[in-house]
Amino acid sequence: MEQRLNEILREALEKINQNDHTLKSLEEIRLAYLGKKGVLTEVMAGLRNLTPEEKPVIGQKINVIKATIENTLKDAKTKVEDQELLKLLESEKIDPTLPGLKLPTGSIHPLNQVIEDVEDLFLGLGYEVADGPELEKDLYNFEMMNIGKNHPARAMQDSFFVDEETLLRTHTSPVQARAMLAHKGKPLAIICPGKVYRRDNDDLTHSHQFMQIEGLVIDEHITFGHLKDTLLKMVRHLFGNEREIRLRPSYFPFTEPSVEVDVVWTKADGTKTYIEVLGAGLVHPDVLKMGGYDPDKFQGFAFGIGVERIAILKYHVEDIRNFYTNDIRFLKQFRGK
Ligand code: DAH
Repeated sequence: MEQRLNEILREALEKINQNDHTLKSLEEIRLAYLGKKGVLTEVMAGLRNLTPEEKPVIGQKINVIKATIENTLKDAKTKVEDQELLKLLESEKIDPTLPGLKLPTGSIHPLNQVIEDVEDLFLGLGYEVADGPELEKDLYNFEMMNIGKNHPARAMQDSFFVDEETLLRTHTSPVQARAMLAHKGKPLAIICPGKVYRRDNDDLTHSHQFMQIEGLVIDEHITFGHLKDTLLKMVRHLFGNEREIRLRPSYFPFTEPSVEVDVVWTKADGTKTYIEVLGAGLVHPDVLKMGGYDPDKFQGFAFGIGVERIAILKYHVEDIRNFYTNDIRFLKQFRGK
């Protein structure tokens, strides 16, 4: 009996220690020796034919053999698993020196770059960024801006009316009225970038839709000096610290006095030229009144910039329509600007 057991152990270990095992072939060995119908189970069944003296000795021997086979199988299994993992890692090996996939990334539209640039400046000066609807009431777009129903200044802003009282806003100035009402007589400082619309025939320099940035400050003791300083800061922020501006008297119904602001530009031949970039002025007392401010106590200044105008000057764009047609070759030039 003992000899047979030794034979079984030798044979089992020999099989287990062969190379090229898979998890499946090891499991087959386990079943063949330790399984319900395995060799050792069979031998155990034979125990009952032994003498009482032999039984415990052989029984113990069987247990030792079982444990030996189990442990050897376990080690072999771990080895196979390690090898399989290695194989897998090998097949999935990454070469970190290969160039990565290039994902096309977008860039910020040049008009938005100008807007963000101006927002940066004014947020730093303590202004809030305000917002207003593009589909606007005549009341805010014109009347509260001191442009009554039959005011001739309406002719300067040919408009898209949706109905008698509603139109696509012709400028960002209506946000002034909205901001005043929202601040309920308290001091305020806002800028508002956004789209505006005018009936116009599109060409190199005209578009029926364009963008403006409105600015409005209301407080006690506001003077023209505050306006001029703010305008100079803004122009220098946009075009460089050496830049000079020229203010020309002008007319807007919602400001008094009103100015047009030119930037001084040096041409290629060294001569100077003036390029108009925005309109501004001190808020008209009637506009303050309509907005809920006492003009004897409060003053304000306001300005409106054409965003395209700034972008055209800054980036030397020849055709305003380039901003809207989404030609990738055009837009690519403004990456990382
Ligand atoms: N709203 C004017 C326009 O579109 C621009 C403008 C001029 C805005 C003077 C202002 C201002 O706030 O004070 O032509």
